[in-house]
Amino acid sequence: MSVTAETVRRLTVADVRRMHADGERLPILTAYDFPTARILDDAGIPMLLVGDSLGQVLLGYDSTVRVTMAEMLHHSAAVVRGSKRALVIADMPFLSYATIEEALDNAGRFLRETGATAVKIEGGVRSARTVEALVRAGIPVMAHIGWTPQSQHGMGGKVRVQGKSRETARALLADAVAVQEAGAFAIVLELVPEQLAALITSRLRIPTIGIGAGPGCSGQVQVITDVLGLGEFSPRHARKYADLEGTIRAAATAWAADVMSGKFPGPAETVRMDDATLDEALGRTADDRAIAGMSEGLAAGIPLDRDL
Ligand code: KIV
Repeated sequence: MSVTAETVRRLTVADVRRMHADGERLPILTAYDFPTARILDDAGIPMLLVGDSLGQVLLGYDSTVRVTMAEMLHHSAAVVRGSKRALVIADMPFLSYATIEEALDNAGRFLRETGATAVKIEGGVRSARTVEALVRAGIPVMAHIGWTPQSQHGMGGKVRVQGKSRETARALLADAVAVQEAGAFAIVLELVPEQLAALITSRLRIPTIGIGAGPGCSGQVQVITDVLGLGEFSPRHARKYADLEGTIRAAATAWAADVMSGKFPGPAETVRMDDATLDEALGRTADDRAIAGMSEGLAAGIPLDRDL
């Protein structure tokens, strides 16, 4: 079916369920701003995650823990404005869902104030009651287990693959089941060994979305700056599909060189006015010259040719 202006509508979690049931693999990218959201939406990316990774990749913080509700609301609204079809998922920042009351309040703000369709929260068993309360309130939730960056200090500070031992593998499986039973519509599995991620995927009804969790997940999510080659650091699990950093640097350098050499702006980037009108404005028509001797002096302080 061709997509026309009339048929474009925003995808819902029901569409995600249908895509998953049809065996479609789900591609998700992060987006943080209007122009990127517009391009990704146009490219047919079905889900855009306004990840709190924005703290590091866009705002220059050293971790996601610094990201605030105000920042997430601001960027989520821009992504919703930039997209027409994609389901937009807003990442709930650190401590914004510490209690169920806060979770309901803040998740409600994402839906009401930004137009996002769903929220993402970190944690498995420990967040299951929160997921349940949000879903019961009508707020679709994507869960996030495995490496959960907001808990990095509690997890030893160092980014590492989760679930490599018998106990931690079982705990991850329990986390996945807990959030599924609580009503999550999908689960991000971050930094999980591929066999375990595939096994978790096979045991669940809802889709798993991997990042550093191998190809056996139902879908994949990546941070857009890693995909575009924009940023100082790129994790091992990311693949660069463009070199935007090189492209931006080359464009900026070429533009600055053109400014310095006088090549920019050229005729194509410049507006001209009618020369006769300019003559009138400056008092240099034949009539102006004729009355020059009777001139009362400078017009409104601007030296016109007829007054000189
Ligand atoms: O914040 C984020 O971008 C994320 C993804 C990496 C899943 O949580």
